[in-house]
Amino acid sequence: MGLCFLAMARFLGSIMSDYLFEEKLAAERTGLETLAVRLAPFLRDGDTQSLAAILREEASDGSTRLLLTDESGEVRIDTGESMTGWKLNNAYLDHVLIGGMNADSAVIDANGKMVNFGRVLFADLSGEKWQAYCVAAVVWDSRVLGAAVLEADAEGILRTFGQMRDRSVLIFGAIALAALIASFLFAGVLSRPVGELTGGIQHMAGGDFSTRVRVRGNREMRQLAAAFNTMSEKVESLDQSRNQFVSNASHELKTPLATMKIMIESLIYQPDMDKDLRTEFLTDIDREIDRLNAIIGDLLTLMKTDSRSEKLKNEPLSLADLCHETEHRLLPIAEQKHQHLVLNMKDKGEMTGDRSKLSQIIYNLMENAVKYTQENGVIRVILERNGKTVRLTVSDNGPGIPKADLSHIFDRFYRVDKARSRTVGGTGLGLSIVRQLVALHGGTIRAESVEGEGTAFIVELPLHQENHA
Ligand SMILES: Nc1ncnc2c1ncn2[C@@H]1O[C@H](COP(=O)(O)OP(=O)(O)OP(=O)(O)O)[C@@H](O)[C@H]1O
Ligand SMILES: [Mg+2]
Repeated sequence: MGLCFLAMARFLGSIMSDYLFEEKLAAERTGLETLAVRLAPFLRDGDTQSLAAILREEASDGSTRLLLTDESGEVRIDTGESMTGWKLNNAYLDHVLIGGMNADSAVIDANGKMVNFGRVLFADLSGEKWQAYCVAAVVWDSRVLGAAVLEADAEGILRTFGQMRDRSVLIFGAIALAALIASFLFAGVLSRPVGELTGGIQHMAGGDFSTRVRVRGNREMRQLAAAFNTMSEKVESLDQSRNQFVSNASHELKTPLATMKIMIESLIYQPDMDKDLRTEFLTDIDREIDRLNAIIGDLLTLMKTDSRSEKLKNEPLSLADLCHETEHRLLPIAEQKHQHLVLNMKDKGEMTGDRSKLSQIIYNLMENAVKYTQENGVIRVILERNGKTVRLTVSDNGPGIPKADLSHIFDRFYRVDKARSRTVGGTGLGLSIVRQLVALHGGTIRAESVEGEGTAFIVELPLHQENHA
């Protein structure tokens, strides 16, 4: 690339000096033409003295030599004096003398040969004697009386232009080199954040989710790095909650298994065990199996709703009917605890949705209220319509949930009172299932609680049937 640039610089420099040289010669030609007009009346009158005075005045700066010939080409006046009386024999002079007005110019090399511009300007000038000639006809009354000839030392001019050309090549070269270095440096600066990001991605791919990259570079790079960091934070937290979930799930599954193992071993190794104790053990084993079944069922529900592999049904239903059905299912337990189940259905809650999933939402919330509220407690279920949504509130006057726990109760396996929950048989999956099922229906759920006073769960669901009508 650098070489290309240098070649281009040399070519441009040559064109430039070529142009300037031509301009210079053209100026000399014009000057000579004007001089020829001035000389014409004196040449007609044969006033050699005046002619010599004019020519000497014009050549007084010493850089040029002026000659005046008659129409035959014989030199009448020479400011250099050595050629006076000589007859010039030059094709250019003939051309002007025969052709008339037009001035002409040429560059003649040391051997007297005319040189074309291309060669002149690319030539090595050292040690050569170059002359530039301009010839202009001296005309009076449409008659060529003679010719004015200007001889200038072209070497100096050409050398100056040559130096200019070389200097421009040097300047262009320096610029090219600087641009080349700058582009290398710039490419390095640009590619460094990309390299860092690539490294980060490779670390992530290798399983290190704690990888973060520095946010730097241009705006797009910074956005990319920030997006990468957000993504890796999310992946890390997902990975942590997955590990937590797996360890919780195995713990929950192992506990009933361990209990069952102890009881079964007792039954095996004590064949003459009391009949009543044996029945009690078998009943306990049966309950543990139910518990295992329930946990596995809950886990499967969570998995299905998590991966969204299960299609949501879209059937017309009444939420009020579902509340009544749930009330019937829970009534025996509530009655055992002398609790009051109060249903206040302000709206029928007609909507479209998945009947069994909506039923599970209501059941889990009402079951919790019955389960955690003390004897003689009151459980209220309110259903009301609010524009295009329906609101279900399940509240109780139970023990309430401490503030610190309230934000965690929708987490998987989270239970406020671990020891007590075991006696009432919970696994801590109920509310996380509820939250997932509500979200699947495009709704929201929140919990409000005052310790010692009670808890309320508020579910807002969109009435899908309006959209499908
Ligand atoms: N109405 C409520 N009053 C007081 N605490 C509650 C109430 N509902 C839920 N909780 C607390 O929130 C925890 C989480 O409830 P969640 O329904 O998720 O699990 P669980 O009832 O313990 O078990 P599961 O529902 O899976 O059988 C419960 O363990 C309990 O401590
Ligand atoms: Mg529950």
